Amino acid sequence: MKRVVVVHGPNLNLLGKREPHIYGTRSLDDLNQTVRDKAGNLGLEVNVFQSNHEGEIIDFLQKEAPGSAGIVINPGALSHYSLALYDCLQALALPVVEVHLSNIHAREEFRSKSVTARAARGVITGLGFAGYELALEFLAKQE
Ligand code: DQA
Repeated sequence: MKRVVVVHGPNLNLLGKREPHIYGTRSLDDLNQTVRDKAGNLGLEVNVFQSNHEGEIIDFLQKEAPGSAGIVINPGALSHYSLALYDCLQALALPVVEVHLSNIHAREEFRSKSVTARAARGVITGLGFAGYELALEFLAKQE
C-alpha cells in the first residue's frame, strides 16, 4: 500500500481554540480524522505527526518519509523562516505539497513569503481542511 506522511508544525495542536476566526473551530483531531478518512478512500496509508519543535519535525521526516510516496506538510510559522526544514525537504527528494489552512497571501506581509515552498511541488493555501484532501489526491496520483 502506498504510504504518505502528513506533518503539522508549531501551534497547529491549538486548532479550534487558536484564532478561530482565521483557523476555524474544528480541532487537530478533527483535521486528522478528515485526513485519515480521505487517505482511506484513496487507498493510502497515512503517517501523521505534529510538533511544536523544528528539530523534532526534521527528525520525524528523516526517519519516516524515505520510502513514502510523498509529504503533505503545513509547516506553520516555520514556513516563513526555516531553512533547516527547507534543506530537509530538499534532501528527501520526494513530492511535497505544502498546505496552509488560511490564505497566507491575504494576511500580514511576513506570511506571504514561504521559504519551504521552494521545496514543494505545489502549495495549497486558504482552503482549510479541503487543502489536505486535495494534497492527498495529488499524491495518490503520483507514480
Ligand atoms: C498557517 C499560516 C502560518 O502563517 C501560521 O504561522 C500558521 C498556520 C496556516 O495553516 O494558515 O501557524 O500555516
